[in-house]
Amino acid sequence: MEVVASAPAKVILLGEHFVVYGEPAIVLAIDKRAYAKVSRREDKKLHIRSANLNMAGYFEDGSFKIEQGEAKEARMKFDPVKNTIENILQKREERVGLNVEINSTVPVGAGLGSSAAVVAATAAATAELLEVKLTKEDIFRITCEAEKIVHGTPSGIDPAISTFGGTLLFQMDTGFKPLDSKTQIPLVVGDTGVERSTRIQVEKVRSLVDKYPRVAESIMKAGREVVLRAIEALKENDLETLGALMNINHALLYGIGVSDESLEWLTSAGRKAGALGAKLTGAGGGGCMIALTREEKIQPVLEAIQRAGGRAFLARKTDEGVRIESG
Ligand code: PMV
Repeated sequence: MEVVASAPAKVILLGEHFVVYGEPAIVLAIDKRAYAKVSRREDKKLHIRSANLNMAGYFEDGSFKIEQGEAKEARMKFDPVKNTIENILQKREERVGLNVEINSTVPVGAGLGSSAAVVAATAAATAELLEVKLTKEDIFRITCEAEKIVHGTPSGIDPAISTFGGTLLFQMDTGFKPLDSKTQIPLVVGDTGVERSTRIQVEKVRSLVDKYPRVAESIMKAGREVVLRAIEALKENDLETLGALMNINHALLYGIGVSDESLEWLTSAGRKAGALGAKLTGAGGGGCMIALTREEKIQPVLEAIQRAGGRAFLARKTDEGVRIESG
């Protein structure tokens, strides 16, 4: 018997970075999912294979053996999956060996929440296979713990969106609030292919805030107004306003130094090709951008972003969080 579960990736629609300073952000689950297939083994090994990363190896009695890929990197990627499975196994007396196969349609390391989606899907599939009852809140908590291994002190956005799906308003002091939005939000995602580190980008903003506190404060305040106005635009199904707000948000992010040349190329190519608005998404300094696009402009925007050097794909908002696919 094997069980397959999946969980969605995310994009930050508005408010990244400012959210670290207590301002609100809007996050969407997108229809790109990570899949985990889990089955039992005869022995006690935990065997993990990632089709996308071309990595495979197993954990046995506390040590890790590599079968495919570079050992240190594979261990780093697989540790959150191992942690998640151990967390679930703790709820059972018996020790069991498992095969975990990860397959993802989410670009890895690009700020789209692929690691949280993989962990949430693994947790759901493992629990179903071993008949351990987990609520969505349990999966969220387990995914948060695993994300701590990857990111140190993550805000919890990625685990929340990959578990619950939909559209979330997030703020540090109040947490997550689902935004019941019926608006279709067709986005072209452009991956610059430029590697970046969220931690370094967050530190960069911190030093700017320390150096020019009053200027930074005004930018953050503008960021908050952008998000508050966007909540109205979502209620009113007003994509034009949403696009304009995305452009303003991008300018504010540029102001705090987290855009780069690759992101500027892709956002301006998207706008020129007819997007209603375009901005970087996530930490910036490379990674991904998003362009809000009416149906008839999707193809030209996608092609323009590709011509400007990005790997582009269409993403739509999804309400479906983590779910069992089969088993
Ligand atoms: O890691 P990413 O690209 O999803 O970006 C994280 C968003 C930040 O606001 C920059 C940091 C955070 O912890 O919220």
